[in-house]
Amino acid sequence: MVKNIQFSKDFPIAMVTAYDAPTARLAESVQMDIILVGDSLGPNMLGYDSVNQVTVADICHHTAAVRRGAPHTHIMADLPWEAVESNSPTVAAQAAAAIIASGADSIKVEIEHGRVELLTKIVSKGIPVCAHVGYTPQSPDLAVTVQGKDFNRACEIIELARISEMSGAFMILMELIPAELAQLITDQSSLPTIGIGAGPHCTGQVQVIYDITGFSSRLFRHAKLFADSATPMKIAFSEYRHEVHARTFPTSENCSTMNQELLERISVWSKINE
Ligand code: KIV
Repeated sequence: MVKNIQFSKDFPIAMVTAYDAPTARLAESVQMDIILVGDSLGPNMLGYDSVNQVTVADICHHTAAVRRGAPHTHIMADLPWEAVESNSPTVAAQAAAAIIASGADSIKVEIEHGRVELLTKIVSKGIPVCAHVGYTPQSPDLAVTVQGKDFNRACEIIELARISEMSGAFMILMELIPAELAQLITDQSSLPTIGIGAGPHCTGQVQVIYDITGFSSRLFRHAKLFADSATPMKIAFSEYRHEVHARTFPTSENCSTMNQELLERISVWSKINE
């Protein structure tokens, strides 16, 4: 059994990304099934231009924070491009081990051709691996669009899912593929599948936290605004700034005070020791 999660093909797993302890704490408080420290961390949290700038150290740092916030939830973390770029199974396995040591329970690896060996090597170290197929953001040559709408690419994605399963993956994540293709892969596989922009027939779903809470600059078709948390936060920022400028915050209610006699003694001491 994979640590911190009981999953079956029938259980509709809910997964969300988180990159920090307070968000992870919230996710755990509603019994989120899996928290993903995805490399979407880069653009969403660190201000990077691309997911491919995310380092192993970044993932470890944020995974450790998420683990502190969610001690009991299954945490999956991405194998970032830095560990994938050289296509070295040894480098990938070392990075995966470091990420697990920082608090993850499993590793997600984007699978395109040639990368299956990375998965095999990581699995051989006893580390659970989720294979990510379809749109794989670490592949610079892929257009940011639905994958598998033509015969060749659809067959390729099916093959990549199959070979990942045969190589020991415990889960398949499918991003931006047609719902019918996701259903076919789900039906043919014995593994749970997780979809994002892959329709309702996957075992479970994953979303990027900012896409469902109102912080993303646009609303993606594959996402849904479950709550707009950005607007109340903006109001809070704006009112705080206004009250600081107006000197109406803080008041005596927001601080502690000192006994007068002690204050006088301290003032005298402070003058003497000037
Ligand atoms: O990095 C990430 O957040 C992801 C999800 C979009 C699946 O890979």
